[in-house]
Amino acid sequence: METKTNRRQFLKTTAAAGGLTILPSGVLFGQNAPSNKLNVALIGTWGRGDAHFNVLSDENVVALCDVNEEHIAHAAKRFPNAKTYVDWRKCLDQKGLDAVVCCTTDHTHAFVANWALNRDLHVFCEKPMGNTVEEVRIVQANWAGKKNKLATQIGTQRHELPNFERVRELVMDGAIGELQHVWAWGNRQIRRSGYLPAQGEPPAHLHYDLWLGPAPFHPYNPGYFSGGPGANCLQWNMFWDFGTGQIGDMGSHTIDLAWNALDADLPTSAVAKGDAYNPEVTPVEMEATFDIPANSWRPAVKVTWCQGGAMPRSPKGYIDLNKIGHGVMFKGTKGYIVADFDSRLVLPFGNDSDLTYYKRRDPKDVAPPIGNFQKEWTKACKTGSKTSCDFDYSGKCIEMMLLGLVAYRVGEKFNYDGKTGKADNAKANELLSRKYRDGWTING
Ligand SMILES: NC(=O)c1ccc[n+]([C@@H]2O[C@H](COP(=O)([O-])OP(=O)(O)OC[C@H]3O[C@@H](n4cnc5c(N)ncnc54)[C@H](O)[C@@H]3O)[C@@H](O)[C@H]2O)c1
Repeated sequence: METKTNRRQFLKTTAAAGGLTILPSGVLFGQNAPSNKLNVALIGTWGRGDAHFNVLSDENVVALCDVNEEHIAHAAKRFPNAKTYVDWRKCLDQKGLDAVVCCTTDHTHAFVANWALNRDLHVFCEKPMGNTVEEVRIVQANWAGKKNKLATQIGTQRHELPNFERVRELVMDGAIGELQHVWAWGNRQIRRSGYLPAQGEPPAHLHYDLWLGPAPFHPYNPGYFSGGPGANCLQWNMFWDFGTGQIGDMGSHTIDLAWNALDADLPTSAVAKGDAYNPEVTPVEMEATFDIPANSWRPAVKVTWCQGGAMPRSPKGYIDLNKIGHGVMFKGTKGYIVADFDSRLVLPFGNDSDLTYYKRRDPKDVAPPIGNFQKEWTKACKTGSKTSCDFDYSGKCIEMMLLGLVAYRVGEKFNYDGKTGKADNAKANELLSRKYRDGWTING
């Protein structure tokens, strides 16, 4: 039987040679066959998991895991040869795996990602990377030591839209002068008063205790499972023990549009305000502002995240930012850029409004399209190429956003040291992590 290293080397060599391989007959099939396909475990096999079926059909899906046996049956129709599991911890111990795609609830992402890295598996993890600053930092630190052999990607697939690079080029090339302040916002407003009350028993096909996983116990209620495919996260992600509300949800996508244009490091401070604090439910309305240090091409800037009704002021009365459900705005010394995921508007002001100060980038220096976002990751698993939303890039971004939630709960501004991962505020430091149910460890 092949060793994992031999198989990895084989995948890399064949991919580098254009993927053309002549295999000896008789060893074409099976999870250990020397093919140029990845042996993948899909964890979370319905809903968002479905969005990965097409790309994964080009690989060997050898394991399917879901806490809902009906959802496993759904994926098994597409991948009938895969072994099946209800507990991701057992799934990750299947021999011969190369890579994992994780589409489970947010409160298990950092666990699955970290356990997978511990087993030297490539990881694609749906957003967000974790629900606390500590979780994100643990996963990041783990990957930091394995960057040269494992590919990672967070599921912010809108990043493949060309607008992401066009906005970045405008900002970097000075279309609005020197950058000063960046806003990102989301308008979603899903109001809940608290965890759902106990109602009935979990159906036989649902392993509810495994669904709760590391989260504190909450009684079963079918309401947590009543959403349509790919939208069921909106039934549980606003509760503190399961998600982070808007931040982990659309916030992950929208802040990515801003973050991609900043080359940012972690913030040095955070301050936030919003709805009255509810210990069970994350805020609907919230505004969080961060100080981001200068880098080689721009000065220090402020980044503000607005959600659920909080909005930046429009630069001109004739632009109604409220009509952009999920958007970003960059303010520079010479004007503004307003953008959504696939369009952008440059608004120069004052004497510079003829834009003569701005030179359009030479076409040869314009970033090429990244192509299919999930394929960017499968290619990276095979060739060692870079992914756009790896655990470093996306990890720092979500760490900043999670610090916003901490600042909201603390109720006052604090300073943050990205090197040590500590704030100068005792309450903030307590809120950087959370407790897990007995029997669950993030580092297994
Ligand atoms: N990238 C995007 O555009 C996008 C879109 C929707 C959802 N998402 C993300 O995908 C994830 C899933 O969202 P969803 O709406 O599909 O949710 P969901 O509640 O439908 O869960 C998806 C699947 O995972 C299974 N599951 C849940 N916990 C599990 C566990 N511990 N082990 C194994 N299987 C488990 C569920 O039974 C379900 O089949 C969320 O993290 C969400 O943020 C991303």
